[in-house]
Amino acid sequence: MGEVIRLGEAIFIGTFSHPESARYVGNTQTCEGCHLDAGRLAGAAPMWAAWVAYPAFRTKNQRVNTIAERIQGCFTYSMNAPASTVGHAPEAESDTLVALQSYIHWVATGAPTGDSGMPGRGYPTLDPTPQGFDPDRGAGVYQTVCAVCHGNDGQGTWVRGELLFPPLWGAKSYNWGAGMHRIDTAAAYIRHNMPLGPATRLNDQDAWDVAAFINAQERPQDPRFNGDLAETTRLYHASRYDYYGKRSGPDGRPLGDDPAKR
Ligand code: HEC
Ligand code: HEC
Repeated sequence: MGEVIRLGEAIFIGTFSHPESARYVGNTQTCEGCHLDAGRLAGAAPMWAAWVAYPAFRTKNQRVNTIAERIQGCFTYSMNAPASTVGHAPEAESDTLVALQSYIHWVATGAPTGDSGMPGRGYPTLDPTPQGFDPDRGAGVYQTVCAVCHGNDGQGTWVRGELLFPPLWGAKSYNWGAGMHRIDTAAAYIRHNMPLGPATRLNDQDAWDVAAFINAQERPQDPRFNGDLAETTRLYHASRYDYYGKRSGPDGRPLGDDPAKR
C-alpha cells in the first residue's frame, strides 16, 4: 500500500513527466500546479476535502461522478489528455488512477466521509469588484508580477531540462474546457495562491484583471468542440466569466477558433 501511495504522490507532483502518467498528458502540467503543496493546501482545492465529497452530482456532465471520474475530468481538460500519446484520460483501473486514488485516500486520513463542505475545499470564491475585470489592465499586472516566473510570453520557464514554472496559455497549457479557463475560477486561485511564495498577495482587482488577461489568450481546443464555434460556445461557454467564442485573441481570430489548436 505504501508503495502505491508513494507512486500516487510522485504522479501528482510530476504528472507530465512521470513514466507512469506521461502518456495520458497532452501538455506540461502537473496536478500540483493547481492543487498546491501536493494537493494538501487549504484554499487550493485540496485532495483531502475532495475525497470525502464524492460520489457527487456534477452539473458539468449532468450525472453522479465518482472520484475516479472527477480525476479523469482534470486529465481530459486541465492535462489536455486528447493531445497525449494515448489520446484519452487513464482508465479507472489503470495503475495511474489506482495510485492517484490511493494517495488521495491517504491524504484524507481521518476526514469525515460525506462532508462536502470541509473548510478549505476548492478555491475560496472572490467577490466581484465595482470595476469588473479587464484584460488590458491585467496585462500590466502580468508583466509586473507574473512574467518573472511564467515568462513574458506565458510559456513558463525551463532550467536545465526541468520545468520550474508552468505555461499559462498556448499549446502546453490547460485547454478551453478546464475549470481554470473561467475568469472567476482563475481569479480566485490567483488571489489566494499567486505569486507563489509567502511574500505578497495581489488585491482583488488585480487578481480579476490578470485572470482575465491570461484567459484572453489562446489555448488548446475544448475537447467538446463539435466543429461549430457558435454552438460550442452556446452549449458550454455561456458564462460571462468565459471568453471562449466571444472575444478575439491576440491573432484577431475569435478565441477557440484557431484551426492549428483543434
Ligand atoms: C490547470 C489547473 C488544474 C490542473 C493541472 C489539475 N486540476 Fe484538478 N481542478 C482544477 C480546478 C479549477 C478544479 C475545480 C475546483 C473548484 O471546484 O473550486 C479542480 C478540481 C479537482 C478535483 C475535485 C476537487 C473538489 O473539491 O471537488 C479533483 C479530485 C482534482 N481536481 C484532481 C486533479 C488531479 C488528480 C490532477 C492531475 C491529474 C488535477 N486535478 C490537475 C484545476 C486543475
Ligand atoms: C515566484 C514564481 C511565480 C510567480 C511570481 C507567479 N507564479 Fe504562478 N505558478 C508558479 C508555480 C511554481 C506554479 C505551479 C505550482 C506548483 O507546482 O507548486 C504556478 C502556477 C500558476 C497557475 C496554475 C495553472 C498552471 O498552469 O499550472 C496559474 C494560473 C498561475 N500560476 C498564475 C500566476 C499569475 C497570474 C501570477 C502573477 C500574479 C503568477 N502566477 C506569479 C510560480 C509563480
